[in-house]
Amino acid sequence: MLSKRSKTAQTAAAQPDVAGPRHVAIIMDGNGRWAQKKGKIRTFGHKAGVESVRSVVRFARESGVESLTLFAFSSENWKRPEEEVSVLMELFNFVLNNEVKRLHKNDVRLKVIGDTSAFDEKLRTKIQKAEALTEQNSALVLNIAANYGGRWDITHAAKLMAQDVLDGKQQLDAIDESHFGQYICTAGLPELDLLIRTGGERRISNFLLWQCAYAELYFTDTLWPDFDEKVFQTAVDDFKARQRRFGLTGEQVSVP
Ligand code: IPE
Ligand code: IPE
Ligand code: MG
Repeated sequence: MLSKRSKTAQTAAAQPDVAGPRHVAIIMDGNGRWAQKKGKIRTFGHKAGVESVRSVVRFARESGVESLTLFAFSSENWKRPEEEVSVLMELFNFVLNNEVKRLHKNDVRLKVIGDTSAFDEKLRTKIQKAEALTEQNSALVLNIAANYGGRWDITHAAKLMAQDVLDGKQQLDAIDESHFGQYICTAGLPELDLLIRTGGERRISNFLLWQCAYAELYFTDTLWPDFDEKVFQTAVDDFKARQRRFGLTGEQVSVP
């Protein structure tokens, strides 16, 4: 028998007029375990995960998502074994070398969010070039979170804002949430609607802390290299079946 939840999900899936998420973020977790299950080394999973990235970008574009934010490397991931970190950096380089053209062709705007000052000069130049090349594209904004941490994002924003106060560009009394939000990495993009985490863990791992305020959370046991358009669609259908109340009552929200 179908549960109440899955019945609602089916109804929403059948209704094309239910609004889908405008901004989706994904914690792409489970690469290491995926590889280990196959008797391979962890980095094999990171390499396999690139194909899932391609497929989610395609899906997001085709389904009208405006912004897609992918967690590729956290500020804590530097603590992993040196060999793994270096393969992840090489992979980031490889993706920038080989995917940017295709992204540009598909009208995707690429942005790297996070503390890029930790990357070497060559990588930073590559990032800047890719961002400049795709700046005018408008089919989808693709944010790659690299050396990103939610606490870093908030601290960085606070520092930028404090500097503006010191420079007399920002009045202390005028600061409110929307002012502060302009200094956060995802400023100017739609509010985060849906956060997906693959790999079975039910935690945020210092991802988009500010942006998660009213995001819908979706956790799946699917390991990242197995994530595809079908799992993405299931997450979107689940999102569409939810009632987002933003502090109001259910009755207030359902009034036409
Ligand atoms: C996510 O997969 C990728 C990164 C953190 C870079 P993991 O490498 O964390 O995979 P598991 O969680 O160990 O399986
Ligand atoms: C989160 O995954 C970071 C990325 C997916 C890039 P982790 O595997 O690093 O998270 P924890 O350590 O399990 O919380
Ligand atoms: Mg992990």
